[in-house]
Amino acid sequence: GQVQIIGVPMDLGQLHRGVDMGPGAIRYAGLLGRLARLGYQVHDRGNLPVPVRDSLADQQEQNYLPAIRQVCEATYRSGREALEQGAIPVFLGGDHSIAIGSIGGVTHSAPAGVIWIDAHGDFNTPQTSDSGNIHGMPLAVLLGEGFPELVDVGRPGAKLVPGDVVLIGIRDLDPAERSRLKQSGIGVFTMRDIDERGMAVVLKEALKKLGHRQRLHVSLDVDALEPHEAPGVGTPSPGGLTYREAQLVMEILADTRRVASLDIVEINPILDDRNQTAQIAVALAASLFGKRIL
Ligand code: ARG
Ligand code: MN
Ligand code: MN
Ligand code: MN
Repeated sequence: GQVQIIGVPMDLGQLHRGVDMGPGAIRYAGLLGRLARLGYQVHDRGNLPVPVRDSLADQQEQNYLPAIRQVCEATYRSGREALEQGAIPVFLGGDHSIAIGSIGGVTHSAPAGVIWIDAHGDFNTPQTSDSGNIHGMPLAVLLGEGFPELVDVGRPGAKLVPGDVVLIGIRDLDPAERSRLKQSGIGVFTMRDIDERGMAVVLKEALKKLGHRQRLHVSLDVDALEPHEAPGVGTPSPGGLTYREAQLVMEILADTRRVASLDIVEINPILDDRNQTAQIAVALAASLFGKRIL
């Protein structure tokens, strides 16, 4: 199979500087070599252009909405093209706002199931968000809610229906986001579910909910992991997935042979400890792409 690496050095969806260096950190941790050794033809398409925050002072009070829209349009095109070329796109963030483009693009010609691995719901609208940060909104946007400029990226309207999405690793929701999510019909698997029932059981149930979709997209926000283990993130939340729980997700997903696209987002090398978080992300990607222990 073919893999296309698409770097999206977006830092405009949140306030911490440094998440724009995520694509470099993931490459430096050896992603291309790991996938090549698993037998994939890996093509690195480089990074998409993202304007530097300091050049966008006039967009600050809009939370950089125009620039985020533009980058998501380009991300959409790259994802769409990769699938049209028969490749698996791997989007390297950047913050989670890039998923508006990546998931939009990979659902251009056919729907896909989405496994959203995150401490957060990213289901805020401009009305429910306390921070105003757009990286807390992408899932709502993909379901057709929030800024119309973002909802209409790539093609008009919602890109997903609630039954196409499962969330895994959730433990930090804003109050109004929480009630929206409960009413949404999205499959939400919280840390409590994982603690009580174990990851294997939870993931099998999650996959059952996505049984109607042949292709799967994995959106991995590395803040889903326990921050003691993966410290290079801007919005850490205690009580996260252990390294093995995250690996087990990837191993079980690999067995389905349905994973057709991947986001790796929210790695902030400035906040990291010797690139440890990027190294974990690369090890998880290797498992998702079929690396087996035995
Ligand atoms: N709920 C918070 C907000 O909306 C945090 C969102 C964190 N999102 C993320 N992709 N890390 O600001
Ligand atoms: Mn998160
Ligand atoms: Mn997220
Ligand atoms: Mn620990």
